[in-house]
Amino acid sequence: MKAVLVVGARPNFMKAAPLMREFSLRGGIEASLVHTGQHYDENMSKIFFEDLELPEPDIYLGIGSGSHAEQTARVMVEFEKYVLTDRPDLIIVVGDVNSTLACSIVGSKLWIPVAHVEAGLRSFDLAMPEEINRMVTDILARFCFTTSPEAETNLKKEGVGEERIFFVGNIMIDSLLNYIDKADGSAILDRLGLVEKEYLLVTLHRPSNVDNPDELRELFAMLSRLAERMPVVLPVHPRTKKMLESADPPIALSGRLKLVDPVGYLEFVGMMKSAGVVVTDSGGIQEETTVLGIPCVTVRENTERPITIEVGTNILAGTDPAGVEAAVNRILDDGIGDHSLPPLWDGKTAGRIADIIEKHFP
Ligand code: UD1
Ligand code: UDP
Repeated sequence: MKAVLVVGARPNFMKAAPLMREFSLRGGIEASLVHTGQHYDENMSKIFFEDLELPEPDIYLGIGSGSHAEQTARVMVEFEKYVLTDRPDLIIVVGDVNSTLACSIVGSKLWIPVAHVEAGLRSFDLAMPEEINRMVTDILARFCFTTSPEAETNLKKEGVGEERIFFVGNIMIDSLLNYIDKADGSAILDRLGLVEKEYLLVTLHRPSNVDNPDELRELFAMLSRLAERMPVVLPVHPRTKKMLESADPPIALSGRLKLVDPVGYLEFVGMMKSAGVVVTDSGGIQEETTVLGIPCVTVRENTERPITIEVGTNILAGTDPAGVEAAVNRILDDGIGDHSLPPLWDGKTAGRIADIIEKHFP
């Protein structure tokens, strides 16, 4: 059988790599890789192909940035051309980015079954573009591969039939466990003069946190205060960089705030492993810190990954800087206590997905 696997943005690559590896080991599923080009900077795309040993994409659609409608529409137009030529039996999409949505719509309208890896996550916040992408993708997908039990409940409430839902575990954790020993942040930490467990690692890129310059200024003022207690390192996402550069009046940055360019997967996992606390609005990082057992303070009002809170590593602090600051200080004073692992976050998710695909396409 022929499958097409779609990647487009940074959080897609670590979800696709275990599947490509599994398919090539088995031989029964002939998989091609489509890169939409939603992310295109070397450190948002190419470096992940090297770090995660992903094969070169069979086709690069070169979509680039744009408004939601522009980006989604461009992916649809170019992906449809590819699918009409390649005629796959299955289209596999991962996560919740615009490329995920666009390719799901294209596949469904051409009557090609779609498999969604990481289905059923819900923040119940329609102001998040990703929530719309998740809901539409799941309604269309023939195969909803879920990471956690509550995802199944969410899908059933929206009318997705049981025969479409498969609890397979968390594909990101396949990559994390595969590369955890190789992951090494020491070069960048040495360069910045940072000591193991004695720094905060921060990432911020959600439009709700970074697109308003006044709110961004307040968040950075809070990070500067935290940096007085413990140095802060922040690999800056291109969306955030653009906002920092255009803010008027300029946003003040403490010298103890170490802003660096986005780093590759091996370096970032290495930096997470050694961090005292991670502060983030990323989806995937909430999950990776759960498996690493590193305290995570999530700078959001809601999360589509509540299991990371239930098992004890993640604290949903809200977006008010005072609340985030208090949560970090609390962890630095008292730690996070007992924590555990969600079921099936065991590094074997790609195998379970391949088993199900093979069963349905004998
Ligand atoms: C996208 C996803 C988001 C995901 C994030 C991961 C959607 C709607 N959003 O958000 O769910 O969490 O990726 O990182 O799909 N840019 C560059 N170089 C790049 C890519 C982007 O400079 O390689 C800049 C451009 O100015 C662009 C902006 O970043 O306009 C935003 O990029 P975009 O892909 O639209 O959304 P993200 O914020 O990256
Ligand atoms: N990541 C990385 N380098 C960075 C920041 C993040 O390799 O500088 C990795 C991180 O380990 C995780 C993924 O990128 O695997 C998360 O992507 P992102 O936060 O961009 O997206 P989200 O998960 O919020 O959709």
